[in-house]
Amino acid sequence: MINKKKIDLLDAKNKEALIGGGEVRIKKQHAKGKLTARERIDLLIDKGTFQELGRFVTHRSQDFGLDKNIPLGDGVVTGYGKINGKPVYIFSQDFTIFGGSLAEAHAEKIVKIMDMAMKNGAPVIGLNDSGGARIQEGVVSLGGYADIFYRNTLASGVIPQISAIMGPCAGGAVYSPAITDFNIMVKNSSYMFVTGPNVVKTVTHEDVTSEELGGAETHSAKSGVAHFTAENDLDALNKIKKLLSYIPQNCEDPVPDIDYDTSDDANPKLNEIVPENPNQPYDIKEVINNVIDKESFFEVHENYAGNIVVGFARLAGKSIGIIANQPMFLAGVLDIDSSKKGARFVRFCDAFNIPLLVFEDVPGFLPGTDQEWRAIITNGAKLLYAFSEATVPRITVITRKAYGGAYDVMNSKHIGADLNFAWPTAEIAVMGAKGAAEIIFKKEIATAENPEEKLKEKEKEYNEMFANPYIAAARGYIDEVIKPEDTRIRLISGFKMLENKVDKLPKKKHGNIPL
Ligand code: HXC
Repeated sequence: MINKKKIDLLDAKNKEALIGGGEVRIKKQHAKGKLTARERIDLLIDKGTFQELGRFVTHRSQDFGLDKNIPLGDGVVTGYGKINGKPVYIFSQDFTIFGGSLAEAHAEKIVKIMDMAMKNGAPVIGLNDSGGARIQEGVVSLGGYADIFYRNTLASGVIPQISAIMGPCAGGAVYSPAITDFNIMVKNSSYMFVTGPNVVKTVTHEDVTSEELGGAETHSAKSGVAHFTAENDLDALNKIKKLLSYIPQNCEDPVPDIDYDTSDDANPKLNEIVPENPNQPYDIKEVINNVIDKESFFEVHENYAGNIVVGFARLAGKSIGIIANQPMFLAGVLDIDSSKKGARFVRFCDAFNIPLLVFEDVPGFLPGTDQEWRAIITNGAKLLYAFSEATVPRITVITRKAYGGAYDVMNSKHIGADLNFAWPTAEIAVMGAKGAAEIIFKKEIATAENPEEKLKEKEKEYNEMFANPYIAAARGYIDEVIKPEDTRIRLISGFKMLENKVDKLPKKKHGNIPL
């Protein structure tokens, strides 16, 4: 029979650990609109499945009075459990203990569950709420961060890594979320920056608040660091669950497959979306939503680089990744931000066996000194490289414009796409009719009695010749010209046909994507 005193001691220790930094600090946390580390885990992990590891871990520091303050757990709750019925590993920083600051023991706990996640092939989720490196522990804290960054890098492309920023995340601490696959930031209670407002003021004399410098809105719209924003903690946790429902457990797992209720019949609504006037915008999300399973689109980077739309969806119950030019925003042109956004999403999907579907309506790359001087060449090449390297099933539907280099880049057959379809409204050409006519008929137009009339006439001539999909289809660059209403049927069939696709890249250590 086990000694009762020993059980009592365990009970007392458990009680102490569960209370975190104490009632006062928990109240402070709630007053800021934030949940505690344990409350977050309770809401995220399937009921009754969370198993904590390292509850009694403590720091070993003796300096700055830490020898008299040795809280159990050292400011982070770690363990494993299930989300949507599938295993995950999780760490949740406890701001009520030393401000969730990261030091030796705290880092070791995170490293332990990261290693377990890697060995067992399941996602890692980090709920970040921390004042950064624990100042009292000095370099040991920095080492702890580096141990985590190193594992983030090794795990990249092997298991999905998701970071939720639910409080401060500053200094070098930002580099773990930066390496992970997705960042979710909670509005008004989280921020991320390498150097905070005070340092900014000293160095650049700028006056900026934490929220302006690195809040959720800033990182979702300006920098693109945040893939998702959440209204509050609960919303962030629900978004993590939703995100996980689209992605496999690891790089060797097949994509999730769920029941769907949309009919597989033709959808005539799709015939009405592209306007007759080729310069009139339309919303590509309307196309997306009329093709995929009902209400299955989960947009990533919704507020960043609106000229390209990326996100997860389901087609006949199976997860796919969608990359689509958005004619409603900058006419769907490709620029630096949209190329980077598209490229990162393509690489995530390819790493985790998620087939790619591209909707193309792109007038080309954005001209101008701003783009050229900030390296649209290198950045545009990222998207080209990411598509070229992707070995998952890849299908493109050209809805309207496929001009210039952008035709090649947007998942053309030439760079390894499996199927390219075009709607009858497709225009596949080196450039738009006006620009083309001005160049190739320059002399004729200049010497004409009415140059303006002549330009219009030549523009029309060029349009009749090239503003269609049939020249590309005659070459086999387009596999089929299809009626918009048949798109869903053709895509379901196409992806089914590609289900067992095997494609290997040449043997190499790794490629050298133009970073
Ligand atoms: C030790 C810390 C801490 C830290 C906060 N605390 N940050 N303890 N090391 N880094 C403690 C506080 O002393 C306080 O303890 C408790 O956590 C709550 O902090 P408050 O300041 O009361 O909370 P709040 O007003 O909400 O402010 C939060 C904060 C602020 C903005 C995060 O605490 C802060 O500025 N902290 C320092 C941030 C920082 O400079 N970190 C180092 C960054 S450099 P008590 O006992 O009073 O409740 C870095 C390098 C990493 O991280 C490099 C990796 C390569």
